[in-house]
Amino acid sequence: MKRINGEIWPDAEGNEIHAHGGCRLAFGKALYWYGEDRRGDAYVSCYQSLDGGKTWRFVRHILTADSPVKKIHEGRDLSLRNSDGNRVNIERPKVIYNRNTGKFILWAHYEDGINYHAARCAVASCDTPDGDFVYHGSFRPVGYMSRDCTLFVDGDRIYFLSASEHNRDLHLYRLTKDGLDVEVFVQKLFAGQSREAPAVIQKDGKYLLVTSFCTGWKPNQCAYAVADRMEGEWSENLPLGDATTYLSQPAFLYEREDGEIVYFGDRWGGNAFAESAFDRSQFDYQKSAYVGYRLVFRDGKAELIHSHEAFL
Ligand code: GAL
Repeated sequence: MKRINGEIWPDAEGNEIHAHGGCRLAFGKALYWYGEDRRGDAYVSCYQSLDGGKTWRFVRHILTADSPVKKIHEGRDLSLRNSDGNRVNIERPKVIYNRNTGKFILWAHYEDGINYHAARCAVASCDTPDGDFVYHGSFRPVGYMSRDCTLFVDGDRIYFLSASEHNRDLHLYRLTKDGLDVEVFVQKLFAGQSREAPAVIQKDGKYLLVTSFCTGWKPNQCAYAVADRMEGEWSENLPLGDATTYLSQPAFLYEREDGEIVYFGDRWGGNAFAESAFDRSQFDYQKSAYVGYRLVFRDGKAELIHSHEAFL
């Protein structure tokens, strides 16, 4: 199915897809697309594709305000509703398969739905990629503030990256083998540069980290950095795409079967919060829209290729 960047992309039943700031996972014969759904008490939606990503069937909301809860660590807040009984925000949900335990792990950004002061990560897990995830609570990793985030599997290691220190710095953590806790705070990246919406990919032995600048959901200039190892030294940030990253904010990166890299982004405004920040002439931020652009990553340099039709 032909998809046009920024237009509504219906799922297999013809409904608008709601899966923002999320991720994509290949497992078995299926592809899964997870993302934030801000409607009602839904938090994280899961779509499945059995035709390589051409059509997507909505499976279920794998995390909602009523998800089952299981305490696995002390000191985590297990609530999925705020003190008013209303929904919280579970943003930028990332799901990976943990080969060490055979479980599916979800990490996301938690806020209480009233303001953005909590700055915590949230963790859940499940035995299947599209089942009802069990919530294990929200907390600040090693005590640090944690907002926009991503997960990255590197061999038998799992990394969590999140914006910290009032979004000024990006923190890299290595997780425990079970993927449910932080083992060590590895390093601080891009101190003082206010990078968020991180997305990582590895290709030909190089690691590529793409981030947006910090202006809410409003698109800005993306940047990329390169490293030889996740725990190694990262290059300085270089601009990626134009001043608005072709009207998008990164959600995730993935490699297609033919080796091409796809930059997958949102063209979306989250909620009314965003209203004041948005220039309505750019796009309708209330539309649940996405973009897919080709990302060429060669000899340590990345380039984003603008297109009207999505590159997926
Ligand atoms: C953005 C962030 C979104 C959301 C929003 C709230 O910067 O990328 O995930 O947190 O701020 O304003």
